[in-house]
Amino acid sequence: MLLALETSCDETSAAVIHDGRVLANVVTSQIRLHAEYGGVVPELATREHLRNLLPVAREALQCAGATVRDLTAVAATRGPGLPAALMAGFTSAQALAFALGLPLYGVNHHEAHLYSPWIGGEPAVAQFEQFEPNLSLIVSGGHTLLVHVRAELDHAVIGATLDDAAGECFDKISKLLGLPYPGGPVLDRLAAEGKPTAYDFPRPLLTEPHFDFSFSGLKTSVRYFLEKRPGLADDPKALRDLCASVQAAIVEVLVVKTVRAARQLGIRCVTASGGVSCNSGLRRELAARCAHRGLRLRLADKNLCTDNAAMIGILAERQIRAGRAPTAGDQETLPGWSLEPDTPTGPANQG
Ligand code: KG4
Ligand code: ZN
Repeated sequence: MLLALETSCDETSAAVIHDGRVLANVVTSQIRLHAEYGGVVPELATREHLRNLLPVAREALQCAGATVRDLTAVAATRGPGLPAALMAGFTSAQALAFALGLPLYGVNHHEAHLYSPWIGGEPAVAQFEQFEPNLSLIVSGGHTLLVHVRAELDHAVIGATLDDAAGECFDKISKLLGLPYPGGPVLDRLAAEGKPTAYDFPRPLLTEPHFDFSFSGLKTSVRYFLEKRPGLADDPKALRDLCASVQAAIVEVLVVKTVRAARQLGIRCVTASGGVSCNSGLRRELAARCAHRGLRLRLADKNLCTDNAAMIGILAERQIRAGRAPTAGDQETLPGWSLEPDTPTGPANQG
């Protein structure tokens, strides 16, 4: 039985995993704490992790009907993420593993996102028997990645954002529109009642042959658009139309490039995870275009799209099963730890 901790950004989470089953997955979000600043404040996030970590871990063990004596391993997110926030979780995991005499496994946060679409059901279990090679879109507040998952624990990044992440773009444009933080979910709700063709915003890099993304130009074009039309966003109908039009631009770029990459690489399955994959427009468009192109689509459950320790624990358990050695107890966290080439899971996993 494995205890997993996740503290890479503004969610403090602990999960208990046993044999591919998620026995508990407790997540506390700090959204309200950061809302008044309009974004995650790293120092506050770290203090909040320190405050929440042990209660969250205790609650996860209680939910699982387990105690620390039942544990056989400890896993924690090692990177990428906010450096001090990562350190809070990883050093706690180091201390716990040291005190209990258990092996410690540092897990790459992005790599864990790749496997969250393969966790499902109630209660949640890993569904690796259904696993197939796939093209994975990871879209969050900090990252936008297209990853070719060639086999379990074997993947290569084929595209990434050159500037802002998709979630950052949602949040920054929401701020320009006067919406509360985090703007993504609010914009999504307003977009549902607006007209996506009302305003024409750019689709950056849509037709470029590579699979990278760029969202900062879209944000700037919305800013110029609003500067020329002061007060427009105060009109409720125009605001909804603006939200729908912005969402349509972001979603089109994400979906078209994802589906094109899958087709070019001959991949039959597309997956998506990360906070932005909760977006209803993205889920709908991915479903429609994948169906149109005969691609199978696996979206992470909405409660597993955002950061959670269940995906960290499920991946760690899978890696252990594949023969992965524990992380040395004195290793540091790596805030910028990328999916390649420094991935932790053995010879198959060389990016
Ligand atoms: O994965 P996540 O919880 O945290 C990290 O950034 O790692 O993602 C949070 C991001 C925020 O930018 C938030 O606005 C965005 O995901 N988000 C959404 C939606 N739900 C969350 N963006 C668009 N539509 C949504 N429904
Ligand atoms: Zn994440």
